[in-house]
Amino acid sequence: MKVFITRIIAETGLKKLREAGLELMIWEEKKELPQEQLIQFCKESNALLSAGYNKIDAHFLKECSHLKVIALHSVGFDNVDILEADRLKIPIGNTPGILSGPTADVAFLLMLSVSRKAFYLHDKIKKGEWKFFEPTANLGINLYGKTLGIFGLGSIGFEMAKRCVGAYNMNVIYHNRNKNSLAEKELNARMVSFEQLLNESDIISVHSNLTTETIGIFNKEVFEKMKPTSIFINTARGAIHNEEDLINALRTGTIWGAGLDVTNPEPMKWDNPLLSLPNAAVLPHIGSATLETRDGMADMAAQNIIAGLKGEKIPFPVNPGIYKE
Ligand code: DGY
Repeated sequence: MKVFITRIIAETGLKKLREAGLELMIWEEKKELPQEQLIQFCKESNALLSAGYNKIDAHFLKECSHLKVIALHSVGFDNVDILEADRLKIPIGNTPGILSGPTADVAFLLMLSVSRKAFYLHDKIKKGEWKFFEPTANLGINLYGKTLGIFGLGSIGFEMAKRCVGAYNMNVIYHNRNKNSLAEKELNARMVSFEQLLNESDIISVHSNLTTETIGIFNKEVFEKMKPTSIFINTARGAIHNEEDLINALRTGTIWGAGLDVTNPEPMKWDNPLLSLPNAAVLPHIGSATLETRDGMADMAAQNIIAGLKGEKIPFPVNPGIYKE
């Protein structure tokens, strides 16, 4: 049986697949795989392991309805048309849990960096602009005792809140579709309306999925409702904020700062204004990029492929409904 893999992934996953007797076809080029080429490769394969930005949309799924399983090398599945996969009864697998802590670490890193303007000030040293000590220059803001607002409190948001409570004794509020009882019990988190989240938070950290409800939700009108001293963090998906509105909010002091691990598009262009604003910090989508996490993600994706090709229920399904009846 053949597996098509859209990126070189950690050897743990590749080894597991080879040891299961599978033949691997890997796209090794460091450029995006055109969608039509992906379809051609998948037509010659029994399973797809997808890492990166390819769209698993209705067109792809109809063309490749023979695939026995599609394993994502991510927890996010916003690039997949799940309704169509359900209709075609194709199991879609993801990598939940393993990247929650590391992604929260990046949200925390960005929050702290923005609060002390770390990226911007580091750049100033490199440009030879550290010349004189001024007691009133380079000032940041303290985080101790502030209010953290989590937009989308799932397992990554929980990890971020845990870090903020532990390090800075922050108050946690959150806006979610469902109540998160664990966060309420362990972190004293309080569920609030979206309006309250905007009005009361000193830091807003986005951890929701990208859906039709969340796309572009952080726009001009929303930034205007946030405190002028607040920090906006997004480590979820770049399309959840409107980039032009965010740049304006940072330029006009509508909010204090922003830290992004995700942009729209990705990769971001080198001359994007966000990279030179003193109150923004941007990273290249490294939430899950640790050796241990990427090993684990490759292993989970391999487990999904192996089970799917055997016709067994995959261990980490996004659409478990296909197994009912
Ligand atoms: C995910 O897994 O969805 C993260 O964004 C990692 O890339």
